Amino acid sequence: MVKLCYLLGYPLEHSVSGVMHNAAFRELSLGYRFESLPLPPSALEKCLKTELRRKWVRGASVTIPHKMRVLRHLDEVDPLAMRIGAINTIVNNRGRLKGYNTDGEGAMRSLEEAFGNLKGVRAVVLGAGGASRAISYHLSKVAEELVIINRTYENALNIVEALKGYPECRASLSAKPLNRASLMEALGNSELLVNATPVGMWPRISETPVDAGLLGPRLMVFDIVYNPPRTRLLEMAEAAGAKTLNGLGMLIYQGAEAFRLWTGREAPIEVMRRAVEEALGIQT
Ligand code: ATR
Repeated sequence: MVKLCYLLGYPLEHSVSGVMHNAAFRELSLGYRFESLPLPPSALEKCLKTELRRKWVRGASVTIPHKMRVLRHLDEVDPLAMRIGAINTIVNNRGRLKGYNTDGEGAMRSLEEAFGNLKGVRAVVLGAGGASRAISYHLSKVAEELVIINRTYENALNIVEALKGYPECRASLSAKPLNRASLMEALGNSELLVNATPVGMWPRISETPVDAGLLGPRLMVFDIVYNPPRTRLLEMAEAAGAKTLNGLGMLIYQGAEAFRLWTGREAPIEVMRRAVEEALGIQT
């Protein structure tokens, strides 16, 4: 019996997760298939109660906008995911669903590969959804300062308050509403900017969360968006002389960890990378 892994999100046209995981399953000749399951929030609960628990379903990747919403429908939550407060991977063990979060580890691996050791960095994270929670948790263990800036201020404040309760999160933490003045103040005092919002993602590729005037050569800019691979934000950052990183590495590394959780096998990372690059039309 072929085992299915789903991608739960809405909308899903931008995603290349299917191409990535199916290439990995094929490479290892595993009897698994990955399928997109676009689900509006109103349909999520039913899917988690029924379809996801079926015998032939091994689990799911969870993406925008469900990463926080799925938590309450699971039977068990891995301690790291519980601390983060968001799920991006679900494993179905004989009808019992367990949630994990591999986003933060994926992001940190990609960040450190690109920018080196981040110990003591002063960072700004834009957004306060599931992806931000994971990245902010991991960054706050190594950063000196972390400012979370979000359109809905309360959501940023909620993350900061949660992180302040964890002894391992040693960074000095603050929350700010998203506007030019707070961006200017925070970026003037930081080395790392992370865009953890979907602003700039296909099809609204002309949008950017930060204008060019706020970017400079001292900054490292990480955009979690991978489609397009060069967002408007990254183009502007490059033009300003900043170091840049897109969301491809995070996608691949979080996916590799999910692959291991579903199959018990090490993921063929280079195969996954090639599949994703081909799907996005990236020449290497
Ligand atoms: P994910 O699971 O990928 O993190 P999410 O939980 O839906 O997705 O979170 C998306 C984040 O991007 C949120 O912080 C959202 O801001 P709000 O908390 O105000 O909803 C932010 N976001 C989404 N669209 C945005 C936009 N057009 N401008 C600014 N922020 C935006």
